[in-house]
Amino acid sequence: MPAAVYVVSIDPQASTVWWANRITDLPFDFSQEHETPENLAILKDTGAKVHVIANQKGGVGKTTVTLNLGAVVADVLKNQDELQHVFIDTPGSLQDENLLLEALKYAHDVIVPMPPEPLAFDPTARTITKVVEPTGLPYKVLVNNWDPRDGEADLKETRDYMTAQGWPFLETPIRRYKVHTRASVEGRVVTQYEDNKASFKAREDFYRLAIELGYGGGK
Ligand SMILES: Nc1ncnc2c1ncn2[C@@H]1O[C@H](COP(=O)(O)OP(=O)(O)OP(=O)(O)O)[C@@H](O)[C@H]1O
Ligand SMILES: [Mg+2]
Repeated sequence: MPAAVYVVSIDPQASTVWWANRITDLPFDFSQEHETPENLAILKDTGAKVHVIANQKGGVGKTTVTLNLGAVVADVLKNQDELQHVFIDTPGSLQDENLLLEALKYAHDVIVPMPPEPLAFDPTARTITKVVEPTGLPYKVLVNNWDPRDGEADLKETRDYMTAQGWPFLETPIRRYKVHTRASVEGRVVTQYEDNKASFKAREDFYRLAIELGYGGGK
């Protein structure tokens, strides 16, 4: 039975494939396509919604968001046998902008992960104004790696900044949990984390995000 979710990486750094290869029971179809990103053209005929996860700033959580959002959506749609959502993980560097532009050709929308840190604001703004907005695609910024133990100030400051920029953003933040950091080494996605309080909260964030994005069913 074909999976309802397909995750693709076009990052030549290939950390996604490194992580995905460690997962024994991947809940979605997966492939690495940085050498032949034009292969993605085939996605246009599938009728699936194609979501590109993009931010040319490195280390903001693109891979973490792609694999875990893919996992929860695959979980919700596990009884569906038609491809519905494609998530494309993209490079975190300016050098590979051509790869990102290629992926955007086939996208329906874009998710831009950003940590709630002022240092990340300017590089994210560059990706949005120079690369994402010119495509005319709908996009939303996603606050990732927010540590609730630091209080709400960082989150509020980030939301104020995004509002001032006129960026559409997701209400659901992805909180910072050690379980996410360890997941790539342990070869797990969020639906496969051990059952404990932190894992529950980590999972909750991604299910909330999937609901806010409306990826729970249909197309
Ligand atoms: N919500 C989170 N909680 C804890 N750790 C996180 C979270 N999001 C990301 N990380 C960690 O931060 C690091 C960078 O994340 P990730 O690899 O997903 O970013 P990236 O944007 O894909 O990076 P690159 O640009 O290099 O591809 C990783 O070690 C990851 O485990
Ligand atoms: Mg990555």
